[in-house]
Amino acid sequence: MSGTVLGRDLFKVNPSLLASDFAELAEAARAVADETDWLHIDVMDGHFVPNLTIGPPVVASLRAHSRAFFDCHLMITNPGELIDAFAKAGANLTTMHAEVGLIKEVIAEMRAHGLAVGLALNPDTPFEVAEPHLESIDLLLLMTVFPGFGGQGFIESVLPKIEKAYEAITRRNLDVVIEVDGGIDAHTAATTACAGARVFVAGTAVYSEPSPSGAVRALRRVVEKALRAAEKK
Ligand code: DX5
Ligand code: ZN
Repeated sequence: MSGTVLGRDLFKVNPSLLASDFAELAEAARAVADETDWLHIDVMDGHFVPNLTIGPPVVASLRAHSRAFFDCHLMITNPGELIDAFAKAGANLTTMHAEVGLIKEVIAEMRAHGLAVGLALNPDTPFEVAEPHLESIDLLLLMTVFPGFGGQGFIESVLPKIEKAYEAITRRNLDVVIEVDGGIDAHTAATTACAGARVFVAGTAVYSEPSPSGAVRALRRVVEKALRAAEKK
């Protein structure tokens, strides 16, 4: 099945709750709701990454407090076993990491549950690993840090991979949007936008600011300006 749920024209600033106060998740969701309708939820299992965060029960609790599109980033070794639970909890999109394998099977499971489908690559995983699956996904997440923790520095060497992915998606006329995650701030949002990214996950750059909604607005403006400038070239 070709991915047509989100579309190439999508453009979102996507606040990562990982950088918010976990005792106040509903408030963190509300704090950005006027500026964006996406929320990035980082799911970590202590195996695929050396950290533990949110699981389906927390997503289900948050669902009652937010109408946002829940983008669940599954940094877990066994995504196939939890797709049903995340769908029932209210996820809209689930993204699996290609590094865990069983890509076709897990994608099929996401589709069977009516979820939008994301495929993620770590910074050192080549684009070619995702290439055979582009027709089957809605979103390609190109990690710009090694997953596991917020607040890390952006890895510049991922930029050529973003360009390569954007070129392949455009050439094949696919409805796949590129998401970047890790170290995204005003500067790196602009550079990744010019490389082809359209969904910008931002944790620290949003929730460490006194006004998270102002930070989302500022990031959106920076990307819009960068894309306008790139068009004029
Ligand atoms: C890292 C997570 C990211 C994280 C990004 O493993 O996938 O979503 O929240 O945080 P910042 O924006 O602080 O780099
Ligand atoms: Zn993430």
